[in-house]
Amino acid sequence: MPGPWLLLGLLAPALAGTVDIQVPEEPVVALFGRDAVLRCSFAPGAGFHLAQLSLMWKKTSLHSAFLTDTKQLVHSFAEGRDQLADQGSGYANRTALFYEELPQGNVSLLLQRVQIADEGTFTCFVRVQDYSSAAVTLQVAALYSKPSLNLEPSKGLKPGDLVALTCHAAHGYPAATVLWQDGHGHNLTENVTTSQVANGDGLFALRSVLRVAVEPQSTYSCLVRNPLLRQEAHASVTITGQHLAFPAVALWVTVGLAVCILGLLGALAYVCRKKIRQSCREEEQSGGLEEQDEEGGEPKTALQPLTSPENKEGKEQELD
Ligand SMILES: *[C@@H]1O[C@H](CO)[C@@H](O)[C@H](O)[C@H]1NC(C)=O
Ligand SMILES: *[C@@H]1O[C@H](CO)[C@@H](O)[C@H](O)[C@H]1NC(C)=O
Ligand SMILES: *[C@@H]1O[C@H](CO)[C@@H](O)[C@H](O)[C@H]1NC(C)=O
Ligand SMILES: *[C@@H]1O[C@H](CO)[C@@H](O)[C@H](O)[C@H]1NC(C)=O
Repeated sequence: MPGPWLLLGLLAPALAGTVDIQVPEEPVVALFGRDAVLRCSFAPGAGFHLAQLSLMWKKTSLHSAFLTDTKQLVHSFAEGRDQLADQGSGYANRTALFYEELPQGNVSLLLQRVQIADEGTFTCFVRVQDYSSAAVTLQVAALYSKPSLNLEPSKGLKPGDLVALTCHAAHGYPAATVLWQDGHGHNLTENVTTSQVANGDGLFALRSVLRVAVEPQSTYSCLVRNPLLRQEAHASVTITGQHLAFPAVALWVTVGLAVCILGLLGALAYVCRKKIRQSCREEEQSGGLEEQDEEGGEPKTALQPLTSPENKEGKEQELD
């Protein structure tokens, strides 16, 4: 993959009078659709003029079928300005330099709207009086969408029925790893089939199917991991009553219970009404007696003084 340019880069410092170029050793990871900076710089000597600088950024593509490299011009700068006549068509309007930093020897490349096809090796060729080059590796990455999990069939299940759980995650790069786990965090590796299909942009759509015999109250999770971004996203499903069939026995038990409860409620209502009526009648009776007592008591006490004076008078009159 590195081709002869990396070799040249390695040999360059050993040659006398060459430009010492600095590039990142680690691959540069760029997000799909975003901008990336491919850093490259050299220490310009005293009396350096921009007009002396000749710069080329080239992309190396390896054609494994022919075991040959092809180089495409990504960006070029000479005689104090951009020279883009021979720029590769895929890079038109997507490249720029940090022009105000050029006098300090910063010849980094700004690559806009990164695509999957941009993955690979970019070589920075610098010539002032002497000539040198160094390579930067670009890796492209894209986050997977939040996985979705579907259960098929999703209704009328009986314990032991075979179901297919399908996990989907889209627009990711590079290829993801999928892990299925049960509710206890144990790996489920049996009966899993996973496929990843690239769309027109080169981004992957992941589809993983787990086939299991269902058990009530069991949980299944699908974990999707982007190895480059260390992104981990998951979706899970729990088999609950809504997925399970309503067995005939349970139905009759429920109906029976409902009838029993209704019967009990009816009996309770009847008893209550009877009790209420009874207590009402008792209240009526006891209220009447009190009134009678008052009526019967007062006349007795009221009559006595009347009768006794009469009697006394009578007696007195009789005595007189
Ligand atoms: C680049 O930009 C110019 C001017 O805006 C436009 O005419 C040309 O079509 C663009 N090229 C590409 C490949 O987008
Ligand atoms: C060169 O410029 C780029 C963009 O401003 C910056 O990220 C990078 O650190 C600079 N490199 C050096 C060596 O100054
Ligand atoms: C499940 O598999 C992953 C990846 O293969 C591994 O890292 C993890 O330790 C495993 N976990 C269990 C509980 O076996
Ligand atoms: C795998 O699938 C087969 C039938 O396709 C099934 O009999 C078996 O129980 C499944 N294994 C697990 C662990 O669910």
